[in-house]
Amino acid sequence: MGGLIAFAATTLLLLFAACGVGAQSTLQVELTSPSSIRSASKVVARSLLSHYNGDEPGQTIGILPGPPPKGPYYWWQAGAMFGTLIDYWFYTGDDEYNKVTTQALLFQAAPPLNSYMPANWTASLGNDDQGFWGMAAMLAAETNFPNPPKDEPQWLALAQAVFNTQAARWETTDCNGGLRWQIPPSNGGYNYKNTIANSVFFNLASRLARYTENTTYADWADKSWDWMVGVGYIDGEYNVYDGGHVEVNCTNINKVQFSANAAMLIHGSAIMYNITNGNEKWRGRVDGLISKTLEHFFPDGIMVERACELEDKVQCNVDQHSFKGYMHRALATAAMVAPFTRQSVMTVLRSSTAGCVKACLSDGTCGFRWTTSYDGDVANGPAGQEMSALAALSTLLVEQKNQGPFTNKTGGTSIGDPNAGGNPFVLQPPPPVTTGWRAGAGILTAVVLATMVGGLAWISGPWGENS
Ligand SMILES: *[C@@H]1O[C@H](CO)[C@@H](O)[C@H](O)[C@H]1NC(C)=O
Ligand SMILES: *[C@@H]1O[C@H](CO)[C@@H](O)[C@H](O)[C@H]1NC(C)=O
Ligand SMILES: *[C@@H]1O[C@H](CO)[C@@H](O)[C@H](O)[C@H]1NC(C)=O
Ligand SMILES: *[C@@H]1O[C@H](CO)[C@@H](O)[C@H](O)[C@H]1NC(C)=O
Ligand SMILES: *[C@@H]1O[C@H](CO)[C@@H](O)[C@H](O)[C@H]1NC(C)=O
Repeated sequence: MGGLIAFAATTLLLLFAACGVGAQSTLQVELTSPSSIRSASKVVARSLLSHYNGDEPGQTIGILPGPPPKGPYYWWQAGAMFGTLIDYWFYTGDDEYNKVTTQALLFQAAPPLNSYMPANWTASLGNDDQGFWGMAAMLAAETNFPNPPKDEPQWLALAQAVFNTQAARWETTDCNGGLRWQIPPSNGGYNYKNTIANSVFFNLASRLARYTENTTYADWADKSWDWMVGVGYIDGEYNVYDGGHVEVNCTNINKVQFSANAAMLIHGSAIMYNITNGNEKWRGRVDGLISKTLEHFFPDGIMVERACELEDKVQCNVDQHSFKGYMHRALATAAMVAPFTRQSVMTVLRSSTAGCVKACLSDGTCGFRWTTSYDGDVANGPAGQEMSALAALSTLLVEQKNQGPFTNKTGGTSIGDPNAGGNPFVLQPPPPVTTGWRAGAGILTAVVLATMVGGLAWISGPWGENS
C-alpha cells in the first residue's frame, strides 16, 4: 500500500515536473504502471472536458460546440464523448465526470419519448448519430454506471428505445433490407444505406441480447450481419466498406474503409461469440475482423486512419478525428468477452497507445497522428483527438479487470422497457417559440440553418461518400 502511494506520488511529481518544462513537453506516462496510466488519463480527460461547456449557464446541456457553422462538432460526437467518459470511469474508477455524463445522457434523450431523436438536431440526425447515444446508454447499463433517479428513464430502456425505433425503420424494398443512413427523408444521405448505420444497430442488438438474454435481439444481430455480408459491405477477407445507394440496389459500393465501421463490428461480433458460448462461426468472424484490422489500421503497431490520414497530408474531417478511440475501446472489449483475442489485442493496444502518448503534450492536448510527436493538428477538433487518446490510455487498464460487462443475470442493475421508444418515424416537433416577431425570424433562420447544416452534413458528415 505504502509503496503504491509513494509510486503514485513520484508519478505525479514527474508529471508536474514535465508541466513545468514548458507547454511543448510531452505527456509523461509509464504504460506498465496502472497508477501512472490513471494519472495521465486524468490529465487528458481534463483537457477533453475543457471543450465541453454544456453545463455552463446559457449553454445547451449535452452538446459540444456546434453543429457547423456554430462550432466544429455534430450532435453525435458528444454522445460518443460521453460513452468514452463512461469507459473512462469504468477502467480508472475516477468519477469526476459522472455527473455531467448522466445529465447529458438524460437531457439529450429528448423526453418524453426518450429515444435520442431531439428536434434540435433533426438536420443531421442519422441512425448512426442516434445510435452513438444509444451505445453510450447501453454501456452505462453494462458497466453499472450509477442509475438515474427512479423517475427518470433508465440506461437499459434508453438503449432499447434506440434499438426499437431503428428495428422499425429496417426496410426491405431496396437492397433486400438494411437501415438508411439518415432518419428524416429530407436529409441528404437518406438514399444511402451505409455500414455505420447498420453496424451500430448490429452492435446495439448484440449487446441487448447479452444483457437481457432476449433472443429477439440476437436474431436482429444475425440478420443485420447477414445483410451487410449479403450486399457486399463486408467482403470475404473482412474488408469493411462504406455503403451504397438505394437507387442502384446498393450495388455502387463505396470501398473506402473507415475504422469506425470495423470497430462496431468487432465489438458486436465478440459479444455474439460470447453469448453463443464460443460458437465457431462467430469466432471466425471475430478472428477475421481483428486480423484484417490489425493489418490494415495498425501498420507497425500504431493506429492510422488510413482513408484520410495520408503520408503527406491529413484530410480527415472533425468526425474522423475521433475514430481511433472507438477502435481501441472495441478491441479492449473484445479482449474481455472473447478471451482468445486477448494476447494479440493487448500487444497492439500497448504499442499503439505508446505512439499515441508521444503525440500528446503534458497538458493533455493531443495530436491526431500517433506515428509522430505532437502534430499541432487542432483545426479539426481537438475534442476527437483527445477522446481517442483518453480511450487509448484508459482501456489499457482492461488487464486489471477480472469481469467483463455486466448482464441482468450477473449483477447489472439497470431496468429496461422492451417497448421503449415511441413512434420511430415521427420526429418531435421543434420547441415552442415564445414571442410573435421573433417567431417569424426564428423560423426563417431555422429553415436557412437546416438547409445549410443538412448540406454540410452531406459534404463533411461522418461517413460521407466524397472521400
Ligand atoms: C434545443 O435548442 C433550444 C434552443 O437553443 C435549447 O433551449 C434546448 O435546450 C435544446 N434542446 C436539446 C435537447 O438540445
Ligand atoms: C438487390 O440486392 C439484394 C441484396 O444484394 C438482392 O438479394 C436482390 O436480388 C437485388 N434485387 C434486384 C432487383 O436486383
Ligand atoms: C464471455 O465473457 C466473460 C467475461 O465477461 C468471460 O469470462 C467468458 O469466458 C466469455 N465466454 C467465452 C465463451 O469466451
Ligand atoms: C432482471 O433481473 C431481475 C432480478 O435481478 C429480475 O427481477 C428481472 O425479471 C430480470 N429482467 C429480465 C428482463 O430478465
Ligand atoms: C424481447 O424483445 C422484443 C423486441 O424488443 C420484445 O418485443 C419482447 O417483448 C421482449 N421479450 C421479453 C420477454 O421481454
